[in-house]
Amino acid sequence: MAKTFYVTTPIYYVNDVPHIGHAYTTVAADVIARYRRLTGYDVFFLTGTDEHGQKVEKSAQQAGETPIQLADRVVERFQSLWRTLNISNDDFIRTTEERHKKVARELFKRAQDNGDIYLGKYEDWYCTPCETFWTEGQLENGMCPECGREVEKLQEASYFFRMSKYQDTLLQHAEQEPDFIQPRARRNEVTSFVKEGLRDLSVSRTSFKWGVPVPGDDDHVIYVWIDALTNYLSGIGFLDDPDKFEKYWPADVHLVGKDILRHHAVYWPTFLTAVGLPLFKKVFAHGWWTNEGKKMSKSLGNFIDIGELLDTYGIDQVRYFMMREVPFGLDADFSHQAMINRVNGDLANDLGNLFNRSLAMASKYFNGSVPTPGKEADRLRDQKMKSLQAVEQTLTDLAFNKALMAIWELVGSVNKYIDETAPFTLAKDESKRDELCSVMYNVLDTLRVITLFVFPFMPASAEKMWEALGMTGRIIDQDLTKDHAWGGLPEGATLTKIPPLFPRIEI
Ligand code: MSP
Repeated sequence: MAKTFYVTTPIYYVNDVPHIGHAYTTVAADVIARYRRLTGYDVFFLTGTDEHGQKVEKSAQQAGETPIQLADRVVERFQSLWRTLNISNDDFIRTTEERHKKVARELFKRAQDNGDIYLGKYEDWYCTPCETFWTEGQLENGMCPECGREVEKLQEASYFFRMSKYQDTLLQHAEQEPDFIQPRARRNEVTSFVKEGLRDLSVSRTSFKWGVPVPGDDDHVIYVWIDALTNYLSGIGFLDDPDKFEKYWPADVHLVGKDILRHHAVYWPTFLTAVGLPLFKKVFAHGWWTNEGKKMSKSLGNFIDIGELLDTYGIDQVRYFMMREVPFGLDADFSHQAMINRVNGDLANDLGNLFNRSLAMASKYFNGSVPTPGKEADRLRDQKMKSLQAVEQTLTDLAFNKALMAIWELVGSVNKYIDETAPFTLAKDESKRDELCSVMYNVLDTLRVITLFVFPFMPASAEKMWEALGMTGRIIDQDLTKDHAWGGLPEGATLTKIPPLFPRIEI
């Protein structure tokens, strides 16, 4: 049976329209999903929307809609963006779906039944935009430490999750499994927070209605974070499809932004332990994007409009930029200059030129079909194997930028190989015909492998490259662990000249 791989994104709040931050995590998850499929895994890739909670209720009121009308409208924006970005998710979970709500209720009930959820009273500072209660000590100048906005003192009857009970189990697990919380610096932040002592977590609200009612107590709705986190189970058929659930759980990786790491690295594992489910294998927190050096915020109105970005630079160009520009895990700055440099340098000059000039040469010398190589050995083998190993290792570590660097090393060595073997000179000498065939076969066959490497990052461009090389069959049916081997390009296949893959951006 194929090895399985389960990757998730956070589910996005529907009170906001999608921006670069949402696209970032989703593209990263898509790259992993595509890469794992290409290396023989049976992958499940889940994304979706978080549709309950006071924030959504308030936004709907302001827009003169019911919360579900708002959700139905905004979910479309997310789904359509994911189609545009070629996101290959296997399912899309909405927390307002019955298949989800029943899982949230069931898990709440299980925790209640074993005494890990009890009724109490809650009083603390609440930040509505962040849906988070803060203690006095956590406030910064009396404001929310997360978003800097005003907080209000709230007291309400509330159900509590005995999170404190699982503090030591969590710490032990985090110590035994160094990959459980990544990157390392953030793991240390989380563990020091836990060491300070966990409080029990308030897991229900009575001050509004828009949520999943607490089983047996309709005055309360389940806290939106507990509701939301259980999507990772409902989305793979917990309750409805035990086989599917068994197959994919525990998740291999939850990708999240740094602001929601605590919810995933503390609330989620302690809750899973309480309901008797195995823990996910890894949660990885990436950094935040700023816009030309400034934090994006509603008040500055400087959110990067992802639609506009895609229109200006192209889909694969934006996907490439997000994965290449900064190490996943660190904060990132978007600037138009950096974007243009990547497109003109890495994409147009390095990869695009190599591809187009190789095809042009082959078309000219061999009348548009793949030549038969001589006995020439596989000259680019060493670099290819080096890149193959590096890509596997770096993508296991979620170091997307390093994976791309390893692929570009291969691009560079093909360019160098062409310069050294000078097929344009060989072509002038009929007695060098065999050598020319071998050189060009090596180039084209390595381009086939580069196409496979590029596919997880830039799927549409890779499809074009695949077709231009005369390859039949779908890329997704290939297996990189075998198909990187020399000679996969059929002799005599028809090559097609195509317009530049990544046109230069002239300013
Ligand atoms: N609904 C919760 C997640 C529940 S998961 C069980 C939520 N939603 S969100 O829509 O507000 O945010 C989703 C993700 O977007 C978070 O991972 C957050 O880090 C990310 N980003 C929001 N702004 C961002 C940037 N400026 N840059 C990068 N990512 C950012 O939180």
